[in-house]
Amino acid sequence: MADIESLLKEKRTFKPDSDFTRQANWNKKTTNEYRKLGDSNPTKFWAQMAKENVSWFTPWKKVLDWKPPFAKWFVGGKINVSYNCLDRHLEGENAWRKNKAAIIWEGEPGDTRVLTYAELHREVCKFANVLKAQGVKKGDRVCLYMPMVPELAIAMLACTRIGAPHSIVFGGFSADALRDRINDAEAKIVITADGGYRKGAPFALKPTVDEAVEKTPSVDRVIVVKRTEQPVDFRAGRDIWWHEAMAEASAKCPPAKLDSEHPLFILYTSGTTGNPKGILHTTGGYLTHVTTTHKAIFDIKDDDVYWCTADIGWITGHSYVVYGPLANGATTVMYEGTPAHPGPDRWWDLIEKWGVTIFYTAPTAIRTFIRLGDEHPKGHDLSSLRLLGSVGEPINPEAWMWYHRVIGGKRCPIVDTWWQTETGGIMISSIPGAVETKPGSATRPFPGVHADIFDEAGESVKGDGGGFLVLKQPWPGMLRGIWGDPKRFKETYWSTYDQTYFAGDGAHRDKNGYFWIMGRIDDVMNVSGHRIGTMEVESALVSSPDVAEAAVVGRPDEITGTAIVAFVSPKGTTIPDDALVGRLKKQVTKEIGAIARPTEIRFTNALPKTRSGKIMRRLLRDIASGREVGGDTSTLEDFSVLAKLRESDDD
Ligand code: WT7
Repeated sequence: MADIESLLKEKRTFKPDSDFTRQANWNKKTTNEYRKLGDSNPTKFWAQMAKENVSWFTPWKKVLDWKPPFAKWFVGGKINVSYNCLDRHLEGENAWRKNKAAIIWEGEPGDTRVLTYAELHREVCKFANVLKAQGVKKGDRVCLYMPMVPELAIAMLACTRIGAPHSIVFGGFSADALRDRINDAEAKIVITADGGYRKGAPFALKPTVDEAVEKTPSVDRVIVVKRTEQPVDFRAGRDIWWHEAMAEASAKCPPAKLDSEHPLFILYTSGTTGNPKGILHTTGGYLTHVTTTHKAIFDIKDDDVYWCTADIGWITGHSYVVYGPLANGATTVMYEGTPAHPGPDRWWDLIEKWGVTIFYTAPTAIRTFIRLGDEHPKGHDLSSLRLLGSVGEPINPEAWMWYHRVIGGKRCPIVDTWWQTETGGIMISSIPGAVETKPGSATRPFPGVHADIFDEAGESVKGDGGGFLVLKQPWPGMLRGIWGDPKRFKETYWSTYDQTYFAGDGAHRDKNGYFWIMGRIDDVMNVSGHRIGTMEVESALVSSPDVAEAAVVGRPDEITGTAIVAFVSPKGTTIPDDALVGRLKKQVTKEIGAIARPTEIRFTNALPKTRSGKIMRRLLRDIASGREVGGDTSTLEDFSVLAKLRESDDD
């Protein structure tokens, strides 16, 4: 609540700079026109964007087929994502882009690779032929479990070239988590690497894949990129080296002419149950959404050097490291490692070295840099920067102001972009040449996006007020479903309100129509901009023989936004000691990955429950944050539990 109050007291505003507006892809006039069209006729607006920003082999017959909650966009249109990201930059009036840098890659040890559009095209065609030679057909799922190396982008684009949907699993997930995702998608092939570099040392990926694929009947091939030269176990008949397969592959591979609604990728994200959801995105609508928003919100120009720091294993990396920038013919920077290696100025060094002009990162990173000290960015020439972006969590006004002052040198507009794995692309954001910004607010919905704030009864909150963030009209980048689970798709997003998408975020809208996102209102935590379900962590904990019951909540954390706190009641004879804390943290790391490891584990002999047996998380959240336990406790089954938990707080 304190956060909400501090946000809503924010009165500073920043008008778009007139020099910026003059050169902007979208100025005030175009933005207003698009807004009007998007408000009155969203399908017409998106159809115009699909025509202007994306290339089609065959035009669509129908812009939108909407049978709630199932949408089909650009029905009958034929399209290919890799064609849009590559071939069209090598042809006709764009042919000069042939030797333009498509990907500027830097490894953590400092090694670099620059792939021009022509080179990237060649590599993608070759790898598409490798996939075909391994029996991958249109519609087959390909799992990518890789470090941040160019081969990851190459593999993605190769999948799109032949119409094989990819499912990327972030390299920080454990073997158990990887296995579950492979099995859910029934992936035929896994692409991985021996490892990658992080914090100055190589980490291994192949052993994790070996462990996972012991129990994945659908997988018959594993292709391995050599990155770190760590020794790997090679299973004859199953494992193939990337470089060996590529050496023989032809560089000719025509892009498949795919239906607009052909599945493009699956990406797993956490929900309120123990099982992650396979979010399904399809081709034409997604590409239209990410290409349009990338062009308008990041004001991308041919001479820009654009860097989004997200790992490609998350949706931000899919949409705004790879697909959006490459479809726009931009130069996109990819960095393999951590921000503070070899020193706390590595990112600023990269910006100076490559002359980065547009920089897109997360509030967690910004808050970490604030703590590390201004001398690190100040020790570098950051004058190439002209635009900054933020994503993943609410950005507190103090962090916004620091970003503006220290990184942006007070001259760069900031775009705070709200969206989700499910939305595919940005939904609420400033347009840098057109919209006045307020620190902490994502400003207004993108044209064509019908975001609103509803109260519990499903009424739109009028004037200044807060409630639940919803989307009232379908949009082209929207998820088409949860892989293999249409029931969960309906229940999660479409059952709270009629024909309206329920985002799961609380939000406030001020009297100027600006949106202030307050964060998740469901049992999902946002840790460093990554979603983790409380239930997922709980099921990892209760799978330990020492645990009778567990309840997991988030508590506010200055750097990561949320810290994970687990309340655990041990089984009868188990001694709740430090060794058990260590074992339980390890257990979570094994079942999910280090990102889900609780910051704190508190032992208790009972959890507060309602009479119907539901854990009262609200109380636990108060206790975990050291707040006075507030609100209604009349349904609490056993008051002594609360007293005991409070006591455990004191020691
Ligand atoms: C959740 C989505 C797609 C972005 C990466 C995270 C939170 C995202 C903002 C923002 C406040 C934000 C929301 C959302 N979120 N952007 N600009 N301001 N909150 O994707 O893992 O699907 O998580 O991230 O809570 O629901 P994700």
